[in-house]
Amino acid sequence: MADLSTTYTGLKFENPFLLASAPPTESDSNIMRAFDAGWGGVVTKTIGLHPVVNVKGPKTKFLRAENSGYRLSMNKRPDTTLVASWNWELISDKTIDWWLPRIESIKKAFPHKILIASIMAGSGSDKELHNWQMLTQGVQDAGADGLELNFSCPHMDRIDMGSNVGKDKVLCSVVTMAVKEVAKVPVWVKLTPATSNIAEEAEASFRGGADAISSSNTWPSLPIIDPETLEFEMNVEGYCSPGGLGGPAILPMSLAKMAQMTKAFPDGAFSGIGGVANFDHALSYFLLGCGTVQVCTAAMLDSAIGPNVIKTLNAGMAAFLDKNAHRGWTRLDDFRGLRRDRIVPHSQIKRPEKADYHGGYDADTEGYAAATTATTVSS
Ligand SMILES: Cc1cc2nc3c(=O)[nH]c(=O)nc-3n(C[C@H](O)[C@H](O)[C@H](O)COP(=O)(O)O)c2cc1C
Repeated sequence: MADLSTTYTGLKFENPFLLASAPPTESDSNIMRAFDAGWGGVVTKTIGLHPVVNVKGPKTKFLRAENSGYRLSMNKRPDTTLVASWNWELISDKTIDWWLPRIESIKKAFPHKILIASIMAGSGSDKELHNWQMLTQGVQDAGADGLELNFSCPHMDRIDMGSNVGKDKVLCSVVTMAVKEVAKVPVWVKLTPATSNIAEEAEASFRGGADAISSSNTWPSLPIIDPETLEFEMNVEGYCSPGGLGGPAILPMSLAKMAQMTKAFPDGAFSGIGGVANFDHALSYFLLGCGTVQVCTAAMLDSAIGPNVIKTLNAGMAAFLDKNAHRGWTRLDDFRGLRRDRIVPHSQIKRPEKADYHGGYDADTEGYAAATTATTVSS
């Protein structure tokens, strides 16, 4: 049996695969089903101090592309492939008082599984920083193994909440410091991908004392407009608001964000999120240096908590270790970060010999016109 276990921010995981903070972890019953199914850990749906009210109507839909053709739509139809999830769901609509006894009973039932509590509060005053501390103390006293600070929810109007914290380096440091003052468990920070150089917010969070960075949350985006009705495919009485894109579409973009951080902090701890549905996807994050990965969209579409997804991830990792046993690889740390240093500035990528150069076009690259040589046009 391959050893899939790993230690990340001092916590021992039986495998490096977690359910991300989202609907799959919105209740104790979901989380316990997830642990039974084999997930190494979960990050709870984000817990706040004040109740939230979601929009009237669906909170998440799934964008699918025709198998042959270009039509993208959230309307369910045959012969399509998943491209992305799109959501405008707020944090947990359950109160902290609802969560605390449930965290306690989950940990009693599954003492060896890792439960990270995702928390969020405002950040604009000392009173609000104190709210972060109250949440921290509550969930850690209930038995949470760690915290994930939500600096990444894309749906907040307030400039001192959610992804607006993740866009402000000072707030990233200040909130992390406030939490670290009272935290007795590891503190992860979940950053928004909606900034130009995420390594800067990672640095600010590490300066505040963060033990790890998680990324990506969903990407700011709008639903497509239906060409027949001229309505956004997701709207309430005709109105829409930017929401978050997740799933396969964001895998390459989230990898790029992750690489910015792992290259800047090769010794830092990073949890990769975005578009993971099988071990190949997770492997890209591991090879960039991540110590765990998290899954949301793929799990939502697999009986809500991903029993087949976790089976595939575990089996994929076991097969990968088996295939690479001849290299002496027996666990994640043996191959983690191996491709981080292959990302270099464009100018450092080798050019072909002059004779092979096609004026910027590769003669047989799909999607490009064939290389042409200048000829005289005669009329
Ligand atoms: C419906 C929905 C709700 C989510 N709620 C939260 C949340 O409460 N807190 C959080 O940190 N991330 C939340 N997320 C973001 C996910 O945890 C994850 O970062 C994102 O979906 C990208 O992962 P994926 O490509 O596997 O879906 C939510 C995502 C979805 C689709």
